[in-house]
Amino acid sequence: MSTDLRINGARLCQRLEELGQIGGLPGGGNARLAFTDEDKQGRDLVSGWMRQLGLDVTIDKIGNTIGVRKGLEPGAPVMTGSHIDTVRTGGRYDGNLGVIAGLEVIERLNEAGITTRLPLAVAFFSNEEGARFHPDIMGSMVYTGQLDLDHAYEVVGIDGKVCGDELKRIGYCGPAEPGWLKPHAFVELHIEQGPILEAEGLVIGAVDGVQGISWTEVTVEGVSAHAGTTPMRLRKDAGYAAAEIAVFVRQLTRELGGGQVGTVGRMEFRPGITNVVPNRAVMTVDIRNPDEAVLQQAEARLFAFLDKIAIAEGVKISTRPLARTKPIVFASHMIDMVSEIAGDFGYKARRMTSGAGHDAQMMATLCPTGMIFVPSVNGLSHNVKEHTEPADLEAGANILLRMMQRLAA
Ligand code: GLV
Ligand code: MN
Ligand code: MN
Repeated sequence: MSTDLRINGARLCQRLEELGQIGGLPGGGNARLAFTDEDKQGRDLVSGWMRQLGLDVTIDKIGNTIGVRKGLEPGAPVMTGSHIDTVRTGGRYDGNLGVIAGLEVIERLNEAGITTRLPLAVAFFSNEEGARFHPDIMGSMVYTGQLDLDHAYEVVGIDGKVCGDELKRIGYCGPAEPGWLKPHAFVELHIEQGPILEAEGLVIGAVDGVQGISWTEVTVEGVSAHAGTTPMRLRKDAGYAAAEIAVFVRQLTRELGGGQVGTVGRMEFRPGITNVVPNRAVMTVDIRNPDEAVLQQAEARLFAFLDKIAIAEGVKISTRPLARTKPIVFASHMIDMVSEIAGDFGYKARRMTSGAGHDAQMMATLCPTGMIFVPSVNGLSHNVKEHTEPADLEAGANILLRMMQRLAA
């Protein structure tokens, strides 16, 4: 095995830049919500690159796109990849880095004339963000048999469009059955999306797993009324009840402590008029914990609070589950391999649990899986200012290259 091979950092950055032009936003980030025209353009660009690099490209029925490079022997491939959809105010690196770095690995091996024993594969999974169609990590969830394809097709997005229709409309509903290719191993390079590596002056995170994630949509129904004439004691104010719920979510994180996080990322009032008491509020609650038992406790306490506030404020509260994944722990030899290879390149890797959801957490149910993290400047992600220094992108991609070579040798 050639161990001195290095990726071409300039080319990696150039491709990220080119992809980032699609759905580009003022300030540097981009918006490529799943199954939109911008997503299609991104997919066309990346699958075009896959074909130029000689990969055999297959698209499955949920739009997951996998390019395979033959090995010296037939067999299950060593797969890498991530996603190229973004949130509406996304950065250029979240997901994109893992896919583009995979292409860079392939291009360097092509240039060096190296064929690994096992095949290699680079994938981009559909709708990882779940920002338009819930749940998140949808493509890899269907791929690993944890979400029914027909159920995914029927999901109605935040814009009222139907997931399956939109997938077909952009021409990425392929013929292959999701899960058609079972990898020998999966490794994903991703930005940390948080502040830890930067704060500790480190370049590489050896991810040991992904925390559990619970998303719920909460609908509060009250009675709209005149803002000037309705005495406070007679109101059934959906907006006020929603605000109490948001405050409770923050309080819950304080009470549970540890790694508990909680976010109300969306709250909409109807009719949404200055002088009208809201009769309806729709909001989302995102709570996460690396410990499944604590996450279940957080969910139970949230639901108990919803019952309490409904009675106290005379409103009706209903809930809809949007996404739920359990914490996942990666195979120890994959975690160790990231640390070892980082060490070979002169980096001290820090073991860390991912706060964000990733396709790797689904792939971990199919095969030994690992993840490499690189730092996010100021810990920012899901923000147009998301940035990772080119040298750190390159370091992560070099570790990915070495790890894929080792796994496929
Ligand atoms: C996906 O980006 C998530 O919300 O963790
Ligand atoms: Mn991501
Ligand atoms: Mn993301």
